[in-house]
Amino acid sequence: MKIIDGKSTSLQIQDELAKEVEEIKSSGGKVPHLAAVLVGDHGASLTYVNAKVKACERIGFDSTLVRLDASITQQELLNEIDKLNNNAAIDGFIVQLPLPDHIDEAKVTMAISPEKDVDGFHPQNVGRMNLGMSTYLPATPNGVLELLKRYEIETSGKKCVVMGRSHIVGSPMSILMSQKDYPGNATVTLVHSRTKDVKSITKEADILIVALGVPEFVTADMVKEGAVVIDVGIHRIEDDSAKRGFRLKGDVKFDEVSAKCSYITPVPGGVGPMTIASLLMNTLKAVKHTYE
Ligand code: GUN
Repeated sequence: MKIIDGKSTSLQIQDELAKEVEEIKSSGGKVPHLAAVLVGDHGASLTYVNAKVKACERIGFDSTLVRLDASITQQELLNEIDKLNNNAAIDGFIVQLPLPDHIDEAKVTMAISPEKDVDGFHPQNVGRMNLGMSTYLPATPNGVLELLKRYEIETSGKKCVVMGRSHIVGSPMSILMSQKDYPGNATVTLVHSRTKDVKSITKEADILIVALGVPEFVTADMVKEGAVVIDVGIHRIEDDSAKRGFRLKGDVKFDEVSAKCSYITPVPGGVGPMTIASLLMNTLKAVKHTYE
């Protein structure tokens, strides 16, 4: 069994990006500038957004964090988005999800200019992805593709089971794994909360991508011997013996599943850090105008 090390792969990509930034700077080009909008102070979101901003600093990108009060009205948030759309200094931006209940996420997503939508969530970009056109691929699924590529994992003709149908991960992941390119060309099945006899399906998977949002849901008896297991889940599980009072767990029972598979991503240190690398790659794409 091999551990797929997302942390070191992400740092390697960030080093590659830092070199590109150096080249841009020395040729007098525009330094990529990412902005992140955070509404409220949702604990995990604050951690993620801070990590994104820190990664920008590390590789020489400019970054702006726009923090807004949880009580902001939808119209006020739309006005902030409009400002970012029209600010030529900002190449790309994200609005961290989830948003407070009184704000319509779909309206907010649609207000972001598709050219600056480095999360790849705008319907235009989702459509482009579906059609295999050049676009910003959503960060988490793209992070998974990048891991498959860099570990040279064969996907063509393989049975790939994606668990979960969220707009952010499961749904785009299933589309990307079936597209006519490496790492795609897989035969994809998507399972979700209404799927009957999930185990009989997951046991057939050569590649199992788990994005359910249920801690340690996938057990060894659900996995085929020699499968590649990608765990997208991340959960804070209370544990008084841990320094921070919690431990991070994925959607996969790591100890028993890792004994059975050929490759596995750990939590933490697997897919999570790759999300940041993908976002930075998209921001570079924005400044180079290679999106169109
Ligand atoms: N919340 C969880 N994942 C993401 C992501 O990739 N982008 C944004 N904007 N919010 C998220």
